[in-house]
Amino acid sequence: MNTAESLSSLPPTPDYDAWPVTVAPERVNHDPHLVELHWRDGRVSRYHGVWLRENAGDASTVNPDTRERILDLSRLAAWPTISAARLDDQGALCVTFAPEDRTLRFHPGWLRANDYSNTAQPDAPLVPVTTWTGETLPEPTSLDAGAWMRQAEDDPAVEALLERALEAVLGHGLVRLRNLPTEPGTLARIAERIGPLRATNFGTLFDVKAKPNPDSNAYTSIALPPHVDLPTREYQPGLQLLHCLENSVEGGQAVMMDGFAIAETLRERHPDAFATLTRVKWCYANTARTTDYVWFDPMIKLDDQGRLLEVRVADFLRGPLMAPFDDIEPAYAALMQLQRLLREPQFAMRFTYRPGDLVIFDNRRLLHARDAFEGNSGHRWLQGCYLERDEIRSRLRMLWRAARQRRVDAAERAPTSG
Ligand code: OGA
Ligand code: ZN
Repeated sequence: MNTAESLSSLPPTPDYDAWPVTVAPERVNHDPHLVELHWRDGRVSRYHGVWLRENAGDASTVNPDTRERILDLSRLAAWPTISAARLDDQGALCVTFAPEDRTLRFHPGWLRANDYSNTAQPDAPLVPVTTWTGETLPEPTSLDAGAWMRQAEDDPAVEALLERALEAVLGHGLVRLRNLPTEPGTLARIAERIGPLRATNFGTLFDVKAKPNPDSNAYTSIALPPHVDLPTREYQPGLQLLHCLENSVEGGQAVMMDGFAIAETLRERHPDAFATLTRVKWCYANTARTTDYVWFDPMIKLDDQGRLLEVRVADFLRGPLMAPFDDIEPAYAALMQLQRLLREPQFAMRFTYRPGDLVIFDNRRLLHARDAFEGNSGHRWLQGCYLERDEIRSRLRMLWRAARQRRVDAAERAPTSG
């Protein structure tokens, strides 16, 4: 162990993150299985010895090059118990584990951030989900991104814009960036600032415009009913991005609806229909001339707490229902209750794309639709692509990490400058 380092600094954590010590630990108690940490603000945190042993940040536990775990707990000679625990001069928790007789140090900022004994919902969403209707949210959160492409990625203004955009996507399920360039391909460069694009049979970047020999209703001028894209995939894309390059046609208004708000309304008004749609698996099919995608899944998916996880609604992408015989009529009755809700005008947010607009929306939550347009009245051209929800969360965590790092750096500078 590097003694000089251990005396002069806080220990490494098993991640690449920065953990400002906003509250320092004051004292510690322990028994063979538990550490009890008392903080200056009165909070008491409890950590199991086995948990601490597995989450140490030292090189016997974590490969320092990758920060991925190399320890296999089951290879220890016995269950890791605590023979001593104290706080050192740096405020790090020092725990001696038996029978290894190994003392490991824990970063107080990291311990505070990972205090499971005081965390009610460890898998809480990064940003609270706020459901909406066209009445409560008449238009998307709109951000001026005019200068975005000309600025460096780590420019604080770019980071602030991105943070607001990502928070809106996680909270409301959509955001609109405005005043972007209208050169074809701009979308890919913007999407890549969030994360890697998801390729599909429609291409990595697809052109939404009326075209000859269309392989999707989207590539015509007819109206599209409320839908998600690619429910025909085992894992439907988490996010869709649409960038308007041209729009001079009559009609073609965009309609967005919060599928979670609609599903919650169905749960309230027609609980049986809601339950049926969470249970019966529909057939989603996109059988085109050269591809043949089919997937069976319920229309509404919940997590283990009953919270909404995703909706799969797209009447034009459903194949024949192949459910148990007695489910057929209840399934269609439930579907029709949902379809009636989709027609209730209060759910719809309507807007017209302006060239340079780019909307990012949660494709497993929002339903999008468009009015028919008059093909001869002008030009309408959107470019689209898909990303996963994971990329939004990872990017937002990276922005928050950078902000924490700035706080740690500022705290380190403070004693000498002040
Ligand atoms: C699509 C789509 C909407 C529009 O391409 O999937 O739904 O406004 N487009 O053209
Ligand atoms: Zn679509």
